[in-house]
Amino acid sequence: MVRDSAEVTIFRGSLLSWYDREKRDLPWRRRAGDEVDLDRRAYAVWVSEVMLQQTQVATVIDYYTRWMQKWPTLQDLASASLEEVNQLWAGLGYYSRGRRLQEGARKVVEELGGHMPRTAETLERLLPGVGRYTARAIASIAFGQATGVVDGNVVRVLCRVRAIGADPSSSLVSQQLWSLAEQLVDPARPGDFNQAAMELGATVCTPQRPLCSQCPVQRLCRAYQRVEKERLSTSPCLPGSLDIEECAPSTGQCQLCAPPTEPWDQALGVANFPRKANRRPPREECSATCVLEQPRAPGGARILLVQRPNSGLLAGLWEFPSVTGEPSGQHLHKALLQKLQSWAGPLPATRLQYIGQVVHTFSHIKLTYQVYGLALDRQNPVTITPPGARWLTRDEFHTAAVSTAMKKVFRVYEGRQPGTCKGSKRSRASTPSTRKKPSPGQQVLDSFFRPHGPTEAPSLNNVDQ
Ligand code: ADE
Repeated sequence: MVRDSAEVTIFRGSLLSWYDREKRDLPWRRRAGDEVDLDRRAYAVWVSEVMLQQTQVATVIDYYTRWMQKWPTLQDLASASLEEVNQLWAGLGYYSRGRRLQEGARKVVEELGGHMPRTAETLERLLPGVGRYTARAIASIAFGQATGVVDGNVVRVLCRVRAIGADPSSSLVSQQLWSLAEQLVDPARPGDFNQAAMELGATVCTPQRPLCSQCPVQRLCRAYQRVEKERLSTSPCLPGSLDIEECAPSTGQCQLCAPPTEPWDQALGVANFPRKANRRPPREECSATCVLEQPRAPGGARILLVQRPNSGLLAGLWEFPSVTGEPSGQHLHKALLQKLQSWAGPLPATRLQYIGQVVHTFSHIKLTYQVYGLALDRQNPVTITPPGARWLTRDEFHTAAVSTAMKKVFRVYEGRQPGTCKGSKRSRASTPSTRKKPSPGQQVLDSFFRPHGPTEAPSLNNVDQ
């Protein structure tokens, strides 16, 4: 894919000079730069790379800083409990990442004498949860191994630079992208080169409205050349046809160019690349969940949290008692009441009130939570706490290992969001089936609560396994 070594040299030089000028001052970059001990350096990079998978830099900074304060070394992490890991990870999503990081640290400490494997190949082979991307990121950034990386941001950069219009999630294109990254990486500064490519994708070569005028490799970018050509030409032309003779002179259609059926959208400019993957929409599920509260418990109000199973979605996290099933209101309402009683014993059923709903999308599931509340009075104290359940104060809830979805549920319960019933409405018993359609305010809850980060693009698609 790379024929011209002069072009590669210019690409490396332009990208690295831009990075030296523009790179963000990020805590993991400082650590990797300052740390002389290779195991500590690799650990610092490992943590950052795992956190950055699927998550924006702005969100990661605070989690990373707290993590490294709590567990500055592999040995510290190896002796932490999963509960502590989940607690610190709460809100970051994709919770198995934290668990696997800790399993990896334990393996390094217990089986590898406390030393991180020193190459991409051994990192990938020996550490659980470390796949191709993470292994190469650690090896290049911490150990200076000349190996390239491809994450979601790099896919976009490379597809534009080479005007690759075919589906980047196909195995053929993916293979080519890894091979291209391997050829482009600067052997003198591989870690910086890889981070520069990711940084370019996150801040300049963004999914929408890329800032081509600020791009250090604009002159080498075939997508940009294609846009210029389309602007000048009035005749309709097919994506990927610019270098067709260079791509596949014998077969006619290059497998990296878009199929001839792909339309060119003039308004998108370089964002015609990469082609959108045909993603399946997330599966829709419904859950009824209840904040069971003892407002007048000794020492202040307490709410009931129960622990999820140790495997599967949100493994080991704490949640309000919930039931999942078909979204028919009465059925779920009844099942929820039974579930609550299985945790807390007999309850005043008429006090179970429907409050509102929360929609939360996990990677592959769109889950609608019907939120209920049940506040117990002095006449109905609950004294039992079965294994796997805890009565938490509000402060304890906010620092517990609970998911973002449960935090949203609690906000609805607290009546702090637009569109939930408050005051007199809230005190009326209802179920979703007896209520009117959710108000527009309720429908926008999800986007309302989603943290409004900067416009930078997260490193999607680079979760290794
Ligand atoms: N995304 C993934 N790794 C990154 C890094 N080291 N710097 C910036 N963005 C990233």
